[in-house]
Amino acid sequence: MKTILQLNTSILSTEGQSTRLANELVEQLAADAVIVRDLAREPVPHLDAERFGAFITPKEKRDDKQQQIVAYSDRLIDEIRRADTIVLGLPMYNFGVPSMLKAWFDHIARAGVTFRYTEKGPVGLLTGKKVYVVATRGGLYAGTRLDTQTDYVRDFLAFLGIADVEFVYAEGLAISEASKTASLAKARESLHNLVPAFA
Ligand SMILES: Cc1cc2nc3c(=O)[nH]c(=O)nc-3n(C[C@H](O)[C@H](O)[C@H](O)COP(=O)(O)O)c2cc1C
Repeated sequence: MKTILQLNTSILSTEGQSTRLANELVEQLAADAVIVRDLAREPVPHLDAERFGAFITPKEKRDDKQQQIVAYSDRLIDEIRRADTIVLGLPMYNFGVPSMLKAWFDHIARAGVTFRYTEKGPVGLLTGKKVYVVATRGGLYAGTRLDTQTDYVRDFLAFLGIADVEFVYAEGLAISEASKTASLAKARESLHNLVPAFA
């Protein structure tokens, strides 16, 4: 059974350009099941000392509050485990990834659960998954030093064992209406090339 996890990280939720493109891609991928996690509708809390403390406390020593915190993180991880394909809508905000995505990352990177340390360095435990990233930006950054997102997202996912990651960019969305229209059309074409069924 083919399962997709669609991760929407736009502050505009379903109105975001990244979400719209992600929706179209998910439709075309025609999965048996789609899990949608919308971080604008249900924000993941920032990682703090209490939450991290719960993660690293041995299971048998966790109090009720810590068990709840870990159960929440486990649910997020379970959604990725169940998915063979992940579609990530990724806007650029203030030169970086949405803080809500960072909070989600902070809840799924768990030593002994999604990665482990070995003598040869860290090993990711979330293997065999494909990720499509639909990156939307007001300006033009792809391939430049100011693209702070692509390497970061790739490195983070690789750390967890996910190396098969494809990016599609819709850039220049704030430059002009013409630029926006052309860029969205080009992004759709790129999605079409990634997924043959995409029309
Ligand atoms: C708070 C905020 C900050 C933004 N910062 C940037 C930025 O640093 N660089 C950029 O190219 N675009 C920036 N933009 C434009 C967004 O990347 C663009 O509107 C994109 O469509 C957002 O994706 P979304 O529609 O899925 O939310 C910003 C937009 C907002 C709302």
